[in-house]
Amino acid sequence: MSIAKPLIKPEFKILRPDNEKEVIDLYNSLSSESIYYRFRGFFKDFEKYVRSVFSDSRNIVYGAYVDGKLVGVLEAVYLSDGCYEMAIAVRDNYQGKGIGTRLVAYAINDLRSRGAKTLIANTTPDNYRILAISRKFHGVIKCMYDECTTIFNLQAINVDQFLN
Ligand SMILES: CC(C)(COP(=O)(O)OP(=O)(O)OC[C@H]1O[C@@H](n2cnc3c(N)ncnc32)[C@H](O)[C@@H]1OP(=O)(O)O)[C@@H](O)C(=O)NCCC(=O)NCCS
Repeated sequence: MSIAKPLIKPEFKILRPDNEKEVIDLYNSLSSESIYYRFRGFFKDFEKYVRSVFSDSRNIVYGAYVDGKLVGVLEAVYLSDGCYEMAIAVRDNYQGKGIGTRLVAYAINDLRSRGAKTLIANTTPDNYRILAISRKFHGVIKCMYDECTTIFNLQAINVDQFLN
């Protein structure tokens, strides 16, 4: 007998500077382990970080909501024309329910519609969840020492199955 994973279907939106507080609250709620995986260290000055992301209008911040609560955030940080670096976090008690996968799909779909070509993600080799998600979207993953870099070719990915 197989036990189906309970999938949650969140609502997505593009976040604006007036959502800063919600994003800071989400980061403040994370466990030490999630903070470690997200920031690859025990980073704590979330206010400064979130403000700096929103201060550059070329960056795009995506939010996943469940029952009106922000449960996931993905920042696509502008690197150069058509190229972004992503970073993502889902609240601890919402992890493992498909929200991260769907949020990545939503961001890829939106970035692609804006003409973006490349999305990059950096992580540690022991971050099995983000690496599993990267494989779902056919990211090219290269790991050296304590860092893995994934490159997504946005124009070649079909995300429809993850959005329905
Ligand atoms: C990484 C993160 C965003 C993923 O979001 P999520 O909602 O938990 O992810 P999902 O539920 O959509 O998918 C997780 C996948 O990892 C897989 N996974 C989990 N543990 C695994 C393991 N030990 N080995 C292999 N795969 C694993 C799951 O099976 C799932 O894949 P599936 O849907 O094919 O079964 C979330 O866990 C998080 O916020 N982590 C802390 C911050 C972080 O690591 N950010 C990424 C670096 S920037």
